Amino acid sequence: MKRRSFLTRLGAAGTLGAIGGLSAPAILTGTGRAWAQSGEIPVGLLFSLTGEVAVVERTLHDAAQLAIEEINAAGGVNDRLLKVHVEDPASDPATYADRARRLFIRDNCVSVFGSYTSASRQAVLPVVEQRKGLYWYPTLYEGRECSRNIMYGGAVPNQQQQEFVPWLVKNFGGKFYLLGNNYVYPKEENNVCKMLLGQLGGEVLHEEYVPLGHSDFSSVINRIRATGPSVIFSTLVGDSDVAFARQYHAAGFDPEKMPVASLTRSEVEVAAIGGEAAAGHLSSAPYYMGYQSPENERFVEAYKARYGADQVTHFVSEAAYFQVYQFKAALEKLDPAAVTAEAIRDAAVGVTLKAPQGEILVDPNLHTHLWPKIARWKSDGQAEILVQSAERIAPEPYWAYPGETCTGEGLVRG
Ligand code: ACM
Repeated sequence: MKRRSFLTRLGAAGTLGAIGGLSAPAILTGTGRAWAQSGEIPVGLLFSLTGEVAVVERTLHDAAQLAIEEINAAGGVNDRLLKVHVEDPASDPATYADRARRLFIRDNCVSVFGSYTSASRQAVLPVVEQRKGLYWYPTLYEGRECSRNIMYGGAVPNQQQQEFVPWLVKNFGGKFYLLGNNYVYPKEENNVCKMLLGQLGGEVLHEEYVPLGHSDFSSVINRIRATGPSVIFSTLVGDSDVAFARQYHAAGFDPEKMPVASLTRSEVEVAAIGGEAAAGHLSSAPYYMGYQSPENERFVEAYKARYGADQVTHFVSEAAYFQVYQFKAALEKLDPAAVTAEAIRDAAVGVTLKAPQGEILVDPNLHTHLWPKIARWKSDGQAEILVQSAERIAPEPYWAYPGETCTGEGLVRG
């Protein structure tokens, strides 16, 4: 299938309760430049609107933009409107770094919200650290990172796998086929999965990585048939996940006997796969569009009103949306006479918000406490939530690496 056909533009709104109130004028950057004269608070959006990841990043852009519009419609923060600077890094990691530099230096942004893949986050990291900026990253990722300049809104491995892998072993068996794209994210997630399987007496029958965008899974399907696993544990992203799901369905495998259990598949991928081929397979994520909460009802309604009734919300767009509100809540806690990126970061720690998925909290390690949920996809493209974590799960970015801990002071070894 064509790359472009993955994830036709799908898309988020609703209003979280306003938190606090800030009323003084001057806002300064990390380098001390005043924004007081402009009367606006400059923020950047760094999501690809073109190129191969645009299909998903546009939905993240849209969700963050929606939150900004809602905040501005309600009077802004401290009577100042958020001024949005949009850059399109065109799905190219080097361009993410270049555009991030532009947003922090030329546009003097106090915070930048951006990106889906770990490759793009890793490209931005040296820029944001050097500029002493703040980068709000909404995507699930592999952990093993502890920057003091990145706010991590997505799940780390313990928040997706801790309940999921034991549940899969109990319900389907412990013979896993690990399938992912060939980059850092799937490999690190699979290290965690292997650790859990080791503890549970399960085993890995085969571990395999295909290039990003890979779309011919005939040999993979032959190997699956030959090895006969109980679960296909998938960290395929984007186009590859869509192509694999369709071919797996066409091969006639029964999800009740051998499900694809994914850490990445959301409503946006399922819409591209088609409900029939996706039905019966499983995902672990902190948010699904059909989750029932007043905050989610508002979010979904506002997103559809803004972007179209056929658009969907998903766990990464939910985080892109709530991170703007975390930013707002942090700003409102500060002495407005001297707001810096560092001060926003420190004020964000401990912020709790009623997000669409449930009440979330920013940890001192700058990751977010989330509500994992295991779900089965239905033929209407929505998820049936089967298991919901009884408690909010703290982020442990070095879960599989016991000698290392991400703390409020950064990475601690030993
Ligand atoms: C990812 O690359 N963090 C999905």
